[in-house]
Amino acid sequence: MPINTPPELTRRQFWKAGGALALAGGLPAKGHAATATSAPVSLRLTAAPAHAPMVGDDHPATAVWAYGGSVPGPVLRVRQGVRFRAVVENRLDESTTVHWHGIRLPNAMDGVPGLTQPPIRPGGRFAYEFTPPDAGTFWYHPHDNSLVQQGRGLAGALIVEEAEPPRVDRELVWVIQDWRLTRDAQVAPGFGGRMETAMAGRLGNTVTVNGRVPDAVRVRSGERVRLRIVNAATARIVALRFEGHRPVVVALDGQPCAPHEPVGGRLLLGPAMRADVILDMAGKPGSRHAVIDDFYDRLAYELVALAYERAAPLRDHALDAPVRLPPNPLPEPDLASAERHELVLQGGMMGGMGMMGMRGAAWAINGMSMTGKGDTDMPPLLSLARGRTCVLSLRNETAWWHPMHLHGHSFRVLTRNGTAVAGAEWGDTVLVEPRQTVEVAFVADNPGAWMLHCHVMDHEVSGLMGVLRVA
Ligand code: C2O
Ligand code: CU
Ligand code: CU
Repeated sequence: MPINTPPELTRRQFWKAGGALALAGGLPAKGHAATATSAPVSLRLTAAPAHAPMVGDDHPATAVWAYGGSVPGPVLRVRQGVRFRAVVENRLDESTTVHWHGIRLPNAMDGVPGLTQPPIRPGGRFAYEFTPPDAGTFWYHPHDNSLVQQGRGLAGALIVEEAEPPRVDRELVWVIQDWRLTRDAQVAPGFGGRMETAMAGRLGNTVTVNGRVPDAVRVRSGERVRLRIVNAATARIVALRFEGHRPVVVALDGQPCAPHEPVGGRLLLGPAMRADVILDMAGKPGSRHAVIDDFYDRLAYELVALAYERAAPLRDHALDAPVRLPPNPLPEPDLASAERHELVLQGGMMGGMGMMGMRGAAWAINGMSMTGKGDTDMPPLLSLARGRTCVLSLRNETAWWHPMHLHGHSFRVLTRNGTAVAGAEWGDTVLVEPRQTVEVAFVADNPGAWMLHCHVMDHEVSGLMGVLRVA
């Protein structure tokens, strides 16, 4: 089955769609025109049950929960510095919220129920409105009953376009999701099982790209593609190898980085992490190259293939144009004046907490276990002075990997086990290896109560979660 692009909200579709997706105001033009309209983007996004043909025609469609009727939800495209408004309508039969992952936005728009807003009840609505300061690849997902809601499909890409994007022939968005499907292609029940909660989380048996089990993505020899990859899986870490290609990473978690090839040729993305990759299609017309995910030992599989058209190459040599992205207006941490804090990640199997502690907790941060949707009456893990640099040392005492995510800020990843990280790359989610200590630094410039949690959903809802308060 050929890989599909997730539905994209173009101006045309807005007009045609009506109902579920309605446009008021203009949608910014795609591409280069820096002078294009800066009218605010306004749309309606519905969360509702739907059916998705994920695994092909031989199987029934999968009952999912979807934004805008599709899995993943529509790719939302907005422009850096241009106001964005989304009215989210909840047609699920449980409460929900939408979190705009990685966007540095006002706390009240962050989508954490009980902490930043009341939950959106069934039949209710909530209007989110913010102006994204940073261009990049972000995403959106619920923050209420997260394990189940995201596990049933609620997730989508949110792209904030640069005023001056690098020159490429084409852009592709790959939203990766991981499903545990039954024989009749339905989402297996039993979220939050004790064993997997205390281990690697709910790993599925079916990995989709843009909502399909993909076969091949068609490419043209000689073309340059900007590939935006979003790991929207609830627990699965991926390590992608592009056979026969030399991908160049130009942004991580939406934030530009020095263009570089991934270490060892493997692009490592934990849940919630994103990468922007420039891919020069160097293969021969008619050839086929696998994109392999080999993160888990002895479980390598072909995620998708690049299938070259037979047409003559688009050009003889790779495009000679710069790939470096323009920087985002991030506040630079001042390490000399920083306040320093340690957060110890504890628990899990082989972690000494027992398999499930109180209130279903399997994990803890500094001895505290915030569970479920976040017990908002729990005291914050840390209270930070506004405007100060904070260096957080995340010490993973457990035997498991944790993609640790901070809301409302981007941080620089300074060190891993004391060794400086090349480029001190920016991110909003950092993948911490078992028994590893990672130091991150950020300016606590965004006032409010911000979640910090593991983005393995099973871990998040069972204790690996807390709140940082910026006063
Ligand atoms: Cu994508 Cu609280 O996270
Ligand atoms: Cu987030
Ligand atoms: Cu975790």
